[in-house]
Amino acid sequence: MQRFVQIDSTNDEAKRQAKRLDPQKEHWDVFVADSQSRGKGQKERAWESKEGGLYYTFLFTPKTITAHDLETYSLKIGHVISESINRLTGLKTEVEWPNDIILDDKKCAGILIETVCRSGKSQPDFMIIGVGVNLNQESFGPIISPVAISLRQKTQNVYNRDLFIETFTEELKACR
Ligand code: BTN
Repeated sequence: MQRFVQIDSTNDEAKRQAKRLDPQKEHWDVFVADSQSRGKGQKERAWESKEGGLYYTFLFTPKTITAHDLETYSLKIGHVISESINRLTGLKTEVEWPNDIILDDKKCAGILIETVCRSGKSQPDFMIIGVGVNLNQESFGPIISPVAISLRQKTQNVYNRDLFIETFTEELKACR
């Protein structure tokens, strides 16, 4: 696992490193940052990435996933992350298509799945699953605060980030 105090984006770091790896060799790794300076969301949106949140990326060489399966796969990952959060917190988050994780009609986590393909191939050589969880933030900026909620805001509890990291890693290893 690679931990960063601050990085542009854990997904971008995973992508940079994937380009230097041999796709023929089975590989997985985890990237975690305390904050991101250019956190990315879906549809090229920015992902607010201040301290307090969890910024997590799982990089791996897919064993069976093909480019055709990506939509189904991404929905499956949404459920895996939502169920992991529910187990760890006792809360009841839900997946909203394609893979926003919703709590009390607000977003508490989001997933950005990216692929790295070497030239001309449709089969991904590497998969990059980025997960942002609104974990311990006490507030959000004015634009997203109407639509975002942290787990701490919901329960007043301060959550142990490492438990989420361990659980996500175990679950995502099983989804390769
Ligand atoms: C979304 O719901 O729009 C997806 C948000 C994904 C955010 C995570 S945080 C860790 C990883 N690094 C990024 O730059 N983005 C993903």
